[in-house]
Amino acid sequence: MYRTHTCGELRLAQAGQEVTLAGWIQIVRKFGSITFADLRDRYGITQLLFGEDLNAQLDQQPLGREFVVQAKGIVLERTNKNPNLATGDIEIKVTAFTILNKSVTPPFTIQDETDGGDDLRMKFRYLDLRRNAVKKNLELRYAVNRAARNYLHENQFMDLETPFLIKSTPEGARDFVVPSRMNPGQFYALPQSPQTFKQLLMVSGYDRYYQITKCFRDEDLRADRQPEFTQIDCEMSFVEQEDILSMFEGMIKHIFKAVKGIDYTEAVPRMTWEDAMWQYGNDKPDIRFGMSLLNIKSAFLKNGEYPAKGQLLAGTDFKVFNDAETVVAIAVPGCADHTRKQTDELTEWVKRPQIGMQGLVYIKVNTDGTYKSSVDKFFSEAQLKAIADAAGAKAGDLVLILAGAEERTRKAISELRLEMGERLGFRRKDEFKLLWVLDFPLFEYSEEDNRWVARHHPFTAPKPSHIDTMIGNDPVIGNAAEYLKHPYAQIKANAYDMVLNGNEIGGGSIRIFQRDLQEKMFAALGMSKEEANHKFGFLLGAFEYGAPPHGGIAFGMDRLCAILGGSESIRDFIAFPKNNSGRDVMLDAPSAIDQKQFDELQIKLDLKQ
Ligand code: AMO
Repeated sequence: MYRTHTCGELRLAQAGQEVTLAGWIQIVRKFGSITFADLRDRYGITQLLFGEDLNAQLDQQPLGREFVVQAKGIVLERTNKNPNLATGDIEIKVTAFTILNKSVTPPFTIQDETDGGDDLRMKFRYLDLRRNAVKKNLELRYAVNRAARNYLHENQFMDLETPFLIKSTPEGARDFVVPSRMNPGQFYALPQSPQTFKQLLMVSGYDRYYQITKCFRDEDLRADRQPEFTQIDCEMSFVEQEDILSMFEGMIKHIFKAVKGIDYTEAVPRMTWEDAMWQYGNDKPDIRFGMSLLNIKSAFLKNGEYPAKGQLLAGTDFKVFNDAETVVAIAVPGCADHTRKQTDELTEWVKRPQIGMQGLVYIKVNTDGTYKSSVDKFFSEAQLKAIADAAGAKAGDLVLILAGAEERTRKAISELRLEMGERLGFRRKDEFKLLWVLDFPLFEYSEEDNRWVARHHPFTAPKPSHIDTMIGNDPVIGNAAEYLKHPYAQIKANAYDMVLNGNEIGGGSIRIFQRDLQEKMFAALGMSKEEANHKFGFLLGAFEYGAPPHGGIAFGMDRLCAILGGSESIRDFIAFPKNNSGRDVMLDAPSAIDQKQFDELQIKLDLKQ
């Protein structure tokens, strides 16, 4: 037997017992003729005490960092207790030890505060994984996984696996492709999600399916995106949107309780996509704090008209506002006392290329009832007050205003809102606010392809009241203006996203389950009948054999874990993640393959420069 106990479990109650532990040496300290060592395993750290009697053996077999050691000894009460360690009341007076394996000096210290940089830790990820901080993240991930499985099992969901080698049908992100040796010149694709398979399982009658599975997307990476990531993927038959929302609100609340001990009893609020865009400039608003947007132009318009150009307030002559497509404001609480230096810094912040604005206008709502702004020349104090009031500013607040082209300005004010929320400490990592965003547009115009693309995916059903608009109108093939005027631009989808603290943690929809509507959808996306049949014939065919009404959702497991763990980066919650260029620096993958492998695949590599 290698061990009687783990390095995390011994307490004063075991004092006097003889035990055997096994683990890794974290650090060795010598005090005169006595040696102390911290022995670490997955469960914790226990202090070992080597007396003089073992000095001869220690001289012959010195202990080093990360050596794997088995130590037998007696549990003793420590004179010098360590309150920061669960085992800090005791130590083991070693009677015999064996070095089970040596280690070369590790490239960084394997402690909570490591000296290893990001790249080095990724290259030696198996050592990084020994660190407490990373281990805690993986434990949290496992807890989320277990809680999700328990909940879904209790609710009659069946875990069914679906293939990884499938057909390439890129829509949304790019596919990763895999050549087939047995079918030369042909390729599989790795699934971007099990979407069509879970729908087929509904046709087969498995009316509650789930899978915690890998998805693969060849897209540009960010802190919350990996090329392979994990979804908690679910589908149900004979359901309407409301059924799905309540089932999965239940799942998330169960996870909150099981993993964080949080009783999230209140109903998750719901917001339409349009309101989210209008009030927060963003389809995944962080509702831990207010500071919602005021669209100044529409607030001051007569008859609800929203002209592209025009005078903002009667008699004002501020071209930046008058000529802008959009003028939007937020009221930042308690910041009227910002100095010139601080407002200048904010102006620089919005001018950064990532934000891309020309400048920033501010109005200070002073506590003495006066108004001071960067545009005092153009506006009377009464007008400044009117804008500040409309933005919901109170005495002591700072109103920040951006003006410019619609989309860019909306994005910029949304980023500015988040930044100010961050600076003011409103985005607390220990506060969790869920939100459903509903009623997404079914279509989005893609400038790149000059056609409609599906906002969620091509299997998403329009709202029942919008089906006629879809059936009754032929899709246009035109220019941007024609697309935006087309009735399809107004169609809303039976689609929903779950947002947690400003992050999209899940998304899904009620599906199309009739062949003719699905064909109409493919046509709307610019697919010919032949192309639709070539890519999705299997699904269209299945819809002819009694497809039930169905819908589902998929949660981004990595994102959910990262937010619950209070981190920005999902990498910290993945045992073996890729870096921002999609590389596994530990494996050094991707990499070139042998000529023999090309020959077997009958592929000749001819890279374009
Ligand atoms: P969707 O594409 O919205 O839906 O994905 C669902 C959730 O997966 C997470 N996610 C990611 N996480 C990490 N890295 C990525 N590259 C990445 N891409 C997405 C997000 C997202 O909310 N089949 C549909 C679901 C359905 O309709 O049922 C789908 O895949 O948290």
